[in-house]
Amino acid sequence: MTTFLVLHGPNLNLLGQREPEIYGSLTLDAINRRLQEYAGQRAISLRTSQSNHEGGLVDALHDAMTWADGIVFNPGAYTHTSYALRDAISGTGLPVVEVHMSNVHAREVFRHRSLLAPVCVGQIVGFGWRSYLLGIEALWNYVSCGEKTG
Ligand code: DQA
Repeated sequence: MTTFLVLHGPNLNLLGQREPEIYGSLTLDAINRRLQEYAGQRAISLRTSQSNHEGGLVDALHDAMTWADGIVFNPGAYTHTSYALRDAISGTGLPVVEVHMSNVHAREVFRHRSLLAPVCVGQIVGFGWRSYLLGIEALWNYVSCGEKTG
């Protein structure tokens, strides 16, 4: 069975309360439940995790090397600042899909740059909680086909 980690970064534990006009009204637990439902229909085994700490996210990425086939990662604001997460992603050798609920390219300029995108297999932004669904779907296709073309 294919096993993925869905990893949520800082402040995403506040979903449901945090800027609902940007991120919607679903809590992180509710989103994780929907993702589990979706994964279950596709015989994908999903583990979900959240950390507000850069080092905690680095540890989660390293830990996934021992059991995951790929990672769907919303790194929150660390997307725009973290060389450590970039090195952790490339260090794991696992395929990582970067996801954002909001369309970061339509927001403040500091959100337009991702330090992580160059070491991810792709990026999905702007579809609310469904960005995660699309991320799982994209990762599933990526690991099933083995490569991006063909
Ligand atoms: C976010 C976008 C980031 O810029 C922001 O810092 C977040 C959430 C998103 O999902 O849209 O915390 O990753």
